[in-house]
Amino acid sequence: MSQPRKILVTSALPYVNGSPHMGHLVEYIQTDIWVRFQKLRGHDCIYVCASDAHGTPIMLKARELGISPEALTEGYTAEFVNDFADFGIEFDNFHTTHSSENEALVCEMFAALRNTGDIYTKTIEQAYDEKEGMFLPDRFVRGTCPFCKAEDQYGDACENCSKTYTPADLIDPVSVVSGTPPVTRESEHYFFKLSEYGDRLRQWMSDATLDRNVVAKLEEWFESGLQDWDISRDAPYFGFRIPGTEDKFFYVWLDAPVGYPASFRNLCDRRDDLDFDSYWRPGSDAELYHFIGKDIMYFHTLFWPAVLQGSGFRTPTSVFAHGFLTVDGQKMSKSRGTFIKARTYLDNLDPNFLRYYYAAKLGPTIEDIDLNLEDFVARVNSDLIGKLINIASRCAGFVSKRFDGKLSASLPDASLFADFADASDAIAAHYERREFSKAMRLVMALADKANRYIDDNKPWVMIKDDARLNDVQLVCTQGLNMFRSLMIFLSPVIPVVADKAREFLDEDSWHWRDASAPLLGTTVRKFKPLLTRVETAQVDRMVEQSKESTPVSETEEEFISIEDFMKVDLRIARIENAEPVDGADKLLALTLDMGDSHRQVFAGIKAAYDPENLVGRHVIVVANLTPRKMRFGVSEGMVLAAGPGGEEIFLLSADDGAKPGMRVK
Ligand code: 2FM
Ligand code: ZN
Repeated sequence: MSQPRKILVTSALPYVNGSPHMGHLVEYIQTDIWVRFQKLRGHDCIYVCASDAHGTPIMLKARELGISPEALTEGYTAEFVNDFADFGIEFDNFHTTHSSENEALVCEMFAALRNTGDIYTKTIEQAYDEKEGMFLPDRFVRGTCPFCKAEDQYGDACENCSKTYTPADLIDPVSVVSGTPPVTRESEHYFFKLSEYGDRLRQWMSDATLDRNVVAKLEEWFESGLQDWDISRDAPYFGFRIPGTEDKFFYVWLDAPVGYPASFRNLCDRRDDLDFDSYWRPGSDAELYHFIGKDIMYFHTLFWPAVLQGSGFRTPTSVFAHGFLTVDGQKMSKSRGTFIKARTYLDNLDPNFLRYYYAAKLGPTIEDIDLNLEDFVARVNSDLIGKLINIASRCAGFVSKRFDGKLSASLPDASLFADFADASDAIAAHYERREFSKAMRLVMALADKANRYIDDNKPWVMIKDDARLNDVQLVCTQGLNMFRSLMIFLSPVIPVVADKAREFLDEDSWHWRDASAPLLGTTVRKFKPLLTRVETAQVDRMVEQSKESTPVSETEEEFISIEDFMKVDLRIARIENAEPVDGADKLLALTLDMGDSHRQVFAGIKAAYDPENLVGRHVIVVANLTPRKMRFGVSEGMVLAAGPGGEEIFLLSADDGAKPGMRVK
């Protein structure tokens, strides 16, 4: 048997000035699945993370709240730790960048880089807020774009024309902190000579096992030339003071990635079996992987490896970048209720569902992934409940009730089980390459196979014939073994469900290879339901709560102009007829009298209204919505209603006197 690999894995360190949300979870769930997979394969895999506690935004937020930055970051760190744990994200250590281990390592690296002449000082000009007595990061100055004249743009780039510039170029700049115009002031800063690292970084790029998309980005950056990096900030700043200075601090992005080895060092101090140097010094026999979002590739593939190379540390084996999350095809939005906090999700839905859904969507690219809420409900119910759990529910009852939980001593269809064992390598290869969506597809194709086997053999028919009792035990043993293999394959993704399945099968632990060897002749425990269906109402409630939990002042409302609003043609309509739709649980088909025409509209209000009570009601309709082709026919408009959905949905209707066709103003 091959030697276990020594693997150290990290996820990006979250800023702790806000609550964890669905966007954060993409990365931590992705990393956790990969780490659990490695552990299940028997490798020594360690997963560390920490909170990213320093920098100007954190300092200012604490100031605004009238608390210390330590108190602010400790509070949010606790929230991250709890929410991550409840999502089954299992770190070997979660530390903070505001720690003694981190300070010691940053200072060590800084001293080493100074010794080699890779750090120099230079006086630069920067925007300064005289009222607040502080230098302003580019993002804390706003004004009119010097190119396109768009108002209220950041000090580094214009969101309207995408041009970049410095705060001094803005027309009528103001400090975001005090609202006063900033002045330009000189200050001495420390720079890291990234420009001298081109050859070493190219070497790293060819030695490391980087994805194509990361290499492409690096090539682009090499092409445009590497600039030296300003690694210091002036007081006031929440961070580590630079040794030998009174009022200079390390820039948050210098000490943030150092949080990776610092968290690991903190773990080493508690674990005798771990040796820091054998993971972090040159010649290390460990693999080192950083999971990150695509927006922070520059920091992780240029600055970070260069700092490591120059200061006596080993470089990453690879950096894995992923895309952003969209919800229902759009950027998460507080006003739409799609800026969903991790806790709001947990209050409404099972975390395993999200883990599975993300896995079913994730691959090793930087493409964005979309959480489509309707698809989420459909996919989870169809795959996890309809396919996977169904296998066990159709077999477990017979085994417990008729055979005292005893599995048969052999499989009736060994060749079918061999198909499951044979798929093991392909599924593992997909996990290893972070092709989770491909792994999920293979697993679900096997689940279909298992269900077909049970359909064909019909244990519920055989059980009525005493002469075939033995066959029932055999068929159910076959079914439960296929279920077991699938659960082992899926255990990195839905660990809590897999644990329950393992307990039901009365096994202490699972290794990946167990999926290829059947469990025979043993006794299983009483079967308890492992998961229950998701209801659309749960999702609707979560969206509704996400709207409620955001104070209006915090929303990045996306306003529409009055012209946009005027485009919406709202009309009064009279419901002439309402009836259920064959094959649709939630819909009613409405025939609407629009005054000069009749329309058919499908409305998701079946749980709330009896069709016969609707006839004659005057409702409000979006009359100029593009007709939508649905499975049951074309829907020619939308009836307005309020509420979270399900039984709690209320049609908006008009007072007496309103006539079909009237325009709503
Ligand atoms: O972009 C961010 O959210 C940073 N807090 C990530 C830091 S990752 C590492 F370098 F610490
Ligand atoms: Zn512009």
